[in-house]
Amino acid sequence: MVQGKTSTQSTGEQARRDKRARGAERHPAVPGALRVRAVRQADLPQVIALDASVTGLHKSAYWQRVYRRYGVGGQGLRHFLVAVDGRRVVGFVIGEVRDWEFGSPPCGWVFAIDVDPEARLAGSGTALLGAVCERFRQVGVTMLRTMISRDNQLLLSFFRSQGMTAGRLIPLQMDIGGEAPGLGAPAP
Ligand SMILES: CC(C)(COP(=O)(O)OP(=O)(O)OC[C@H]1O[C@@H](n2cnc3c(N)ncnc32)[C@H](O)[C@@H]1OP(=O)(O)O)[C@@H](O)C(=O)NCCC(=O)NCCS
Repeated sequence: MVQGKTSTQSTGEQARRDKRARGAERHPAVPGALRVRAVRQADLPQVIALDASVTGLHKSAYWQRVYRRYGVGGQGLRHFLVAVDGRRVVGFVIGEVRDWEFGSPPCGWVFAIDVDPEARLAGSGTALLGAVCERFRQVGVTMLRTMISRDNQLLLSFFRSQGMTAGRLIPLQMDIGGEAPGLGAPAP
């Protein structure tokens, strides 16, 4: 939890604020043109297409489930947000508040973020992450977590630029065999 910040942390936050301000100067078109809002059913075809363009998988059923759970069913703790430029969806972020997982106080988890390759490096990813963090803060959450593939240097650079550093949790996994009928395509 963020309490009793040290001067090192304050300096880090100031540096991040300065970086964001520099980013806004470099991408002056973004604040006016781009809007981040909750996803709507009508956005789904664009979200599915965007995801497919990045992952190569067209996961319609998966996205309908995500929409039911995080879109309409969000209720303040689950968020599925899109960045729109006019009517065009240029990116999305999905996250949720997770309570007391393995003793950890409630924290905000981001488990998907994608920006249209044509719209990248214009501040959309920053705007999406900022918007979901704002929603987490509104329910008292002060810690943000995510998990990325160690090969995904692009996401790593992005999250580092936002101020994220290695956390104290370690991901563990093992192969437990068998099929997973009905679960459809894997999550991104
Ligand atoms: C990571 C991603 C969300 C960033 O979106 P974006 O809109 O380009 O991000 P921003 O413009 O807000 O960039 C913010 C900062 O991230 C870093 N960054 C973004 N793209 C970068 C790149 N290609 N190389 C290095 N740093 C990069 C920079 O520090 C940048 O700040 P700057 O522009 O002031 O230098 C986007 O590239 C993406 O969707 N990548 C694919 C993600 C993915 O693999 N998703 C599937 C798993 S969920």
